[in-house]
Amino acid sequence: MTASPAERKVRGSNFVFFGGSTGMGRAAALALAGRGASVLIVGRSEKDGQAAAEAARVAGAASADFLAGDLSTMAGIQYVAEGVRAWRPALHGVLHTAMTAFQGKQVTADGFEFAFALQYFARAALNRLLVERLAASGDGRIVHLAGDAPGLFKPDLDDLQFERRKWGFYKSLLGTHILGFLHIQEAARRWRELPVALTATCVGPTKTKAMLDPRMPLSMRFMGLFGTTPEVSAANAVRALTQASVQRLSGTVLRRPKRFEPQALRLDCGDAARLWDITTELAAQRGLRLP
Ligand SMILES: NC(=O)c1ccc[n+]([C@@H]2O[C@H](COP(=O)([O-])OP(=O)(O)OC[C@H]3O[C@@H](n4cnc5c(N)ncnc54)[C@H](OP(=O)(O)O)[C@@H]3O)[C@@H](O)[C@H]2O)c1
Repeated sequence: MTASPAERKVRGSNFVFFGGSTGMGRAAALALAGRGASVLIVGRSEKDGQAAAEAARVAGAASADFLAGDLSTMAGIQYVAEGVRAWRPALHGVLHTAMTAFQGKQVTADGFEFAFALQYFARAALNRLLVERLAASGDGRIVHLAGDAPGLFKPDLDDLQFERRKWGFYKSLLGTHILGFLHIQEAARRWRELPVALTATCVGPTKTKAMLDPRMPLSMRFMGLFGTTPEVSAANAVRALTQASVQRLSGTVLRRPKRFEPQALRLDCGDAARLWDITTELAAQRGLRLP
């Protein structure tokens, strides 16, 4: 393990956890709460969200709030972005872990394939809608929780909604991690003058709600059953949010869960730029203007 780094000032700083009511998001929220941060937890279940906020208060949070919202829909993303803006004028960090089990190809009310909607589009849209608030803190950090998806699952930018290709669970789920990497690479390039750093921390099988859900394929549930704890898997994300220095952090991925080794993303620059434009267009067609 690498030595513990110096930490930034976390006490009283503002952090948002999209999908923070259970699993790794909750574990990270409690770790930041324990350092005196103000935390906002986003998820759908009022019960889980309020319980996580209460646990954050007990852990020592300067404040802990819950915002209920469904990030798989465009309306939900807009509602949550407004709620986050109303929460605090400046954000020091956001962590994305929102995900839920699903079976077969599902299409959202906005016409998006489900994993694309929740695990790619919501993240990219929220980052773009909140980047000003992150920059306003002078040191905004964006962390995506991901899996280290092999190139085999490279998404097809001409068929993001699986209209021409045959849909497959792993193709869809793991492809969204690669879309997230492309977003991080492109956003880091576009926002290089802003005090905002983006990274993805990959984790191995972890025992969490989504992984143990009966709607998940058996192989996923099996991995979840023998997976590590959310607290251990969230460690790199916590460090990315709290360490003092962001030097060489933006535009990286941490592929190995047990080491803190940010590696610069070197995906195809043309693909990264194209995905950014496709995302802008998909949002605009549905009435959402992304900066
Ligand atoms: N666990 C693993 O083995 C593993 C491995 C690799 C990568 N990952 C990544 O880790 C993330 C999942 O985290 P986790 O495993 O800790 O899962 P988890 O415990 O199931 O947490 C998922 C969180 O997302 C929220 N959520 C689900 N659907 C939502 C929606 N439509 N809108 C808003 N919030 C929603 C859930 O709360 P509600 O249900 O109340 O909304 C919950 O707070 C995903 O990005 C996944 O790809 C996990």
